[in-house]
Amino acid sequence: MIRIAAVGDVHIDRDVLGRFRPALEELPGQADVLLLAGDLTRHGTEAEAKCVATEFGGLGVPVIAVLGNHDHHCDEVPGVLAALTDAGITVLEGDSTVVDIDGVRLGVAGVKGFGGGFAGRCASEFGEPEMKAFVRTTGVVAERLGSALRDLDCDVRVALTHYAPVPDTLAGEPLEIYPFLGSYLLGQAIDSAPTALAVHGHAHHGSERGRTPGGVRVRNVAHPVIKQAYSVFNLAPEHVSPPTPSGI
Ligand SMILES: [Fe+2]
Ligand SMILES: [Fe+2]
Repeated sequence: MIRIAAVGDVHIDRDVLGRFRPALEELPGQADVLLLAGDLTRHGTEAEAKCVATEFGGLGVPVIAVLGNHDHHCDEVPGVLAALTDAGITVLEGDSTVVDIDGVRLGVAGVKGFGGGFAGRCASEFGEPEMKAFVRTTGVVAERLGSALRDLDCDVRVALTHYAPVPDTLAGEPLEIYPFLGSYLLGQAIDSAPTALAVHGHAHHGSERGRTPGGVRVRNVAHPVIKQAYSVFNLAPEHVSPPTPSGI
């Protein structure tokens, strides 16, 4: 059994510092890894990222993150990344990492993601250059997620995004803003590999549970949704690929 803790949208600044830490100190007894689903900061400043590093650094379990739209707001992404990586946090964007948990290789592929909407109600690559650029951006990041998931050499795959891959976990948000909260292309990317779990944030007023068209469990772990320092998901043995018979 692999235990995955996850939370997103913690929006840390100086005034939030210390709020998560007491629960995080308990983490090694609760989970094998912590996933951070973006919007770690409030406005994406390096100073805020240093607060994130203080809050989520040195936890005793691997911490793997993607950035969110807020983490880009002040155009200080290099400083934000440096603060997080200096604290030992692995930040993914179109790539993946593998963690060995008692002999089981957990693979996590991550992208921030982007908007565009969902099947039947989505933006299309047509018309003005700005519209085409918007939709192409989503297509490119979704392709990166799909290829990172497919290329993973591991026993259990998890997809980590900030934007939502399915509309299920947006229930509670105004329908009018769904196209700014996620894209079905992320869901297609997740379904292109045998993914055991997909976690995302961004939808503060959304719902916790959903599923991709291919049946992958999707969980919105935005802090305002889960209302706790982190949720823990157990990946049952059926999600663990059987060992490859020798000689094949
Ligand atoms: Fe957020
Ligand atoms: Fe967000």
